Amino acid sequence: MSLPAFRIVLITGANSGVGYATSKVLATATTTPSFHVIMTGRSFEKVQKAKAELEQEISATATGTLTALQLDVTDAKSVEDVAKYVKENHGHLDALINNAANGSRDSDLVTRLRLCFDTNVIGAALVAQTFRPLLLKSSNPYSIWVSSGAGSIKLSSEPGRDPANLDNDEAYRASKAALNMVMQCEHRDWHKKGLKTLALSPGFVVSNLRGTSEEMRNPGGKAGDPIVAGQTILGVLEGKRDDDAGKLVHKRGVYPW
Ligand SMILES: NC(=O)c1ccc[n+]([C@@H]2O[C@H](COP(=O)([O-])OP(=O)(O)OC[C@H]3O[C@@H](n4cnc5c(N)ncnc54)[C@H](OP(=O)(O)O)[C@@H]3O)[C@@H](O)[C@H]2O)c1
Repeated sequence: MSLPAFRIVLITGANSGVGYATSKVLATATTTPSFHVIMTGRSFEKVQKAKAELEQEISATATGTLTALQLDVTDAKSVEDVAKYVKENHGHLDALINNAANGSRDSDLVTRLRLCFDTNVIGAALVAQTFRPLLLKSSNPYSIWVSSGAGSIKLSSEPGRDPANLDNDEAYRASKAALNMVMQCEHRDWHKKGLKTLALSPGFVVSNLRGTSEEMRNPGGKAGDPIVAGQTILGVLEGKRDDDAGKLVHKRGVYPW
């Protein structure tokens, strides 16, 4: 039996931070088959620019290929349009990396709750539901929900856990706790059909989530390299974390709920 030429992976919020780094790790991975990464972003201009920059960055080391498409997780039509594109062009999806997030710490409570829940919970759930039929057509499908240790109620109750010491972060934390539950329900309902679902904390890494100034991208110089998160995601797709399906994993283990 011949192997498929590429494993098809779709990443939401791929134009920066963890999504961009994961695109880079997958497009240069020395696995067989290699990856075709569908980088999506809510701004087509931004994701197209990110794809062009990445192609230049990896020109000597690329093993896989990239496509850039517009997808706003809060816009059902854009999610459906991309699912239609994947169906027509590939017929299936091997991995969904549900990565896009809003890290709002708006001073208004209701505003930040709405922003975080619309994108991080409702948007992610809609994306998972829309792409699931395509994942179930893969012989080895993965559904990865990029979450956070900040969504662990146990960890959150331990003093001194937050290296960034950020205020107004209850909306973000609550959205990630809710995301973990939605992920768990997908695992419960679909793992018997062969779908490997897990939530993954990328760790505290340099990104635009907290803001775009240098200090917010890397508070106190303590944030790590998002490439490490991409490598953890590659490990999941290589089957190294299959025993952790249904859990909230990080690079070295599993977080408590
Ligand atoms: N960085 C960390 O320390 C850290 C720690 C734990 C968990 N995480 C998680 O890692 C994931 C990636 O975040 P990041 O740190 O890489 O932050 P980031 O650089 O801000 O990336 C987030 C991405 O999501 C996109 N996005 C926001 N709203 C969207 C929407 N409605 N539809 C589609 N895309 C949207 C952003 O697009 P725009 O560029 O257009 O805004 C951006 O591409 C998130 O799930 C985050 O919660 C990060």
